[in-house]
Amino acid sequence: MSLRTLQSTGDLTGKTVLVRSDFNVPFSNAVIADDGRIRASLPTLEYLIRAGAAVIVMSHLGRPDGVVDSTWSLEPVARRLGELLTVPVHFARDTVGPDADARRRALVPGEVLVLENLRFDARETSAAESDRLEFATQLTTGVDLLVSDGFGVVHRKHASVYDAARIVPSSAGLLVATETDILHRLTTDAARPYTVVLGGSKVSDKLGVIEHLLPRIDRLLIGGGMVFTFLAAQGHRVGASLCEVDRLDTVRGYLETAQKLGVGVILPTDIVVANTFAADADVTVTSSDAMEDTPYGASGVGLDIGPDTSRRFADLIRSSRTVFWNGPMGVFEMAAFAAGTRAVATALTEMDGLGVVGGGDSAAAVRAFGFPDSSFGHISTGGGASLEFLEGKSLPGLEVLGW
Ligand code: 3PG
Repeated sequence: MSLRTLQSTGDLTGKTVLVRSDFNVPFSNAVIADDGRIRASLPTLEYLIRAGAAVIVMSHLGRPDGVVDSTWSLEPVARRLGELLTVPVHFARDTVGPDADARRRALVPGEVLVLENLRFDARETSAAESDRLEFATQLTTGVDLLVSDGFGVVHRKHASVYDAARIVPSSAGLLVATETDILHRLTTDAARPYTVVLGGSKVSDKLGVIEHLLPRIDRLLIGGGMVFTFLAAQGHRVGASLCEVDRLDTVRGYLETAQKLGVGVILPTDIVVANTFAADADVTVTSSDAMEDTPYGASGVGLDIGPDTSRRFADLIRSSRTVFWNGPMGVFEMAAFAAGTRAVATALTEMDGLGVVGGGDSAAAVRAFGFPDSSFGHISTGGGASLEFLEGKSLPGLEVLGW
């Protein structure tokens, strides 16, 4: 289990290096809303430029399913990359077509070429290995080294992630190496006390991670929409809040396992309840065992953890030496329901030790709150990938690099 690393690839002067990045960034009104994943790709790209390589970068954006759709073009990403790097960044309007061919031939060491969205070609995500191999062979033609640096996509057995790395010499990029190292520490030798904070809407998205991490941690703090399935499993009524009735027995099983293992499962003692799911809803705070005893009765909907719970969660985070956090505590996009998520984020910036923010919504939340990335131990660029890693699953994009 040791990744092939960039530092062991030998002299790269004049070599053509193809980098698989994950530029799957959120857009808002056609503007990049969070360029975190683009910035996270810079160390590897700068390393390769300094080493004298000609650098071709490929990525997916969204799920266009093999259809060329300009909504999902990587051109704005290439433009942003050009602003962040000090070298020329070119853009090809296809991946393996005439424009990419011509631009690859014209590329000189020290310059960067970004290819168009890989998922405009159905072979990228095809279940048929022959399709993927054909595409991967075209992508790697004339390439001396493939550098896999899209951590967010290492759980996908896709042409650019898996097959390409089997065709030409390949290594992990600096981002993939860092992410793997930190997440591996979370499953092996994490400093104690070790606290995991889980939120987000559905408990069904977190089952694997709860099962795999429970025996390794000291405390599990639950917030977000998934908390109502836990509260319902304990016999509380949760009004019109999200609740996965088909998971109640599973959740009861976790609570029993945690008790046997001596792991503290900490559920909210108070909840912010609204009369409806809206930014300007009427809101009240109630005890989590009396959610239907508000003026909204059974139609009240829980949208954030309450202030007492926020304080308790923050104290537990600050007194931990390792924290992994995935999933917002409430509907943080609406100001009235953002306090719980903000409290958890703030506590992570204040703790001594390793505080890791899982990707996806939690990373988006801390950036929306204006926290600099550097105030956290680590912000993962992988949402699904980091969860699958922590579930102990074998990830094709890492396996192919020797992990
Ligand atoms: C992500 O955003 O989690 C990655 O870019 C993977 O995207 P996907 O779920 O569409 O494969």
